[in-house]
Amino acid sequence: MKVLVVGSGGREHALAWKLAASPNVGQVFVAPGNAGTLGEEGVSNVNLNVMDFDGLVAFAAENGIGLTVVGPELPLAAGIVDRFRDAGLHCFGPTAAAARLEASKSFAKEFMVRNGIPTADHAEFTTLEPALAHVAEADLPVVIKADGLAAGKGVVVAHDRDSAVAAVNGMLSGIQFGQAGRRVVIEEFLQGEEASFICMVDGKDILPMASSQDHKAAHDGDLGPNTGGMGSYSPAPVVDDALAERILGEVIRPVVRGMADEGTTYTGFLYAGLMIGEDRSLRVIEFNCRFGDPEAQPVLSRLRSDFAVHCLATVHGSLGGERANWDPRACLGVVMAAEGYPGDCAKGREIHGLGDVPDGVKVFHAGTACTDGRVVTDGGRVLCVTAFGSSVAAAQALAYRGAGQIHWEGSWCRRDIGYRAIGRERDMTGSGDAQ
Ligand code: AMP
Ligand code: GLY
Repeated sequence: MKVLVVGSGGREHALAWKLAASPNVGQVFVAPGNAGTLGEEGVSNVNLNVMDFDGLVAFAAENGIGLTVVGPELPLAAGIVDRFRDAGLHCFGPTAAAARLEASKSFAKEFMVRNGIPTADHAEFTTLEPALAHVAEADLPVVIKADGLAAGKGVVVAHDRDSAVAAVNGMLSGIQFGQAGRRVVIEEFLQGEEASFICMVDGKDILPMASSQDHKAAHDGDLGPNTGGMGSYSPAPVVDDALAERILGEVIRPVVRGMADEGTTYTGFLYAGLMIGEDRSLRVIEFNCRFGDPEAQPVLSRLRSDFAVHCLATVHGSLGGERANWDPRACLGVVMAAEGYPGDCAKGREIHGLGDVPDGVKVFHAGTACTDGRVVTDGGRVLCVTAFGSSVAAAQALAYRGAGQIHWEGSWCRRDIGYRAIGRERDMTGSGDAQ
């Protein structure tokens, strides 16, 4: 079978690499891909933009593509799956209507309230005066969210009234996020530890992926501005078997059932971003309608069963018969970013040392391109350097040895990816040695 992956990030490199490893897959195409997918065995890039639905559908039809897997949220929210289905093509992901779980925070919050899914208390506003009156009374910190897609930047955790007022003004005026900010969700600040719980869903049945956690803040100690994610690891020690069962029972199954009952049957990856309190309370922060990035890199690295078969079962509605098999070792990915990220970044800087990483390290590309045979930077998050270990601490040590071999002008990464998990390992075993 031939497969098409839509996207160009680290997640799409991981998706394409895993799909190419399936004995059931002959060739994987990635549109548009990056320098990493270009160099991957059995994978080729196709020069089509993720929003060029006509071009993508025509490519899939002309080249006998048996399965298309869509990575990012923008084409999903804009209806790429609907377009492929209309053309009689198998496409993995939710329809535009179902993708509203990510694309509209207001839709997601109201859906959760209707379906009894635990989440932060919230209120919604489209006009300034009542929104400002609300933040004047709210407990601090208070969380202000643009309703629509804002590339992970539409959330402000305001620790004082002035920043809350500034966020509300910036969003509702349309200055900050355009249409996406014309409606705001203002919600209670949740305390605890975040975890990502990602499942494959075929409309009724669920295949959970291994648990994972990412670090969204730019700087060590989870400080600084929010980013798409500076590193991740799997499994997430905070999500033990009992908690995973609760997440399925209290969140994932009610979502799948609720979406089907409301006529917006959910298919594809369902990503629940969760806050786990010290008392093990469980609340949903957000839903994403796609795999996490960079969660996909370590999670898919651990997948031993046939990913292409799981994806096909999802589009055929037969996921109930699938079982995933995971490498029991921990896997951790460190994101290497360009100077300026998460703001504007310099592009076109040559990347050195990609061939010098130790055995057992896999480098997933994100914002990279190939010019004149040289691999150069082409985005903010550039690489995700991923390694296995017998513990998260061991995986972390090896991933950082790999990252230490790679450099370009202005390259940087967080130095503490996995620290919470490593702290838990220490608590459990009395040591977190990377031996
Ligand atoms: P979202 O785009 O909704 O995932 O929000 C981005 C990040 O903001 C989350 O990963 C959290 O770190 C933080 N965040 C969002 N909502 C809340 C909340 N209600 N309480 C605490 N932190 C939050
Ligand atoms: N790593 C967070 C996300 O993919 O949204």
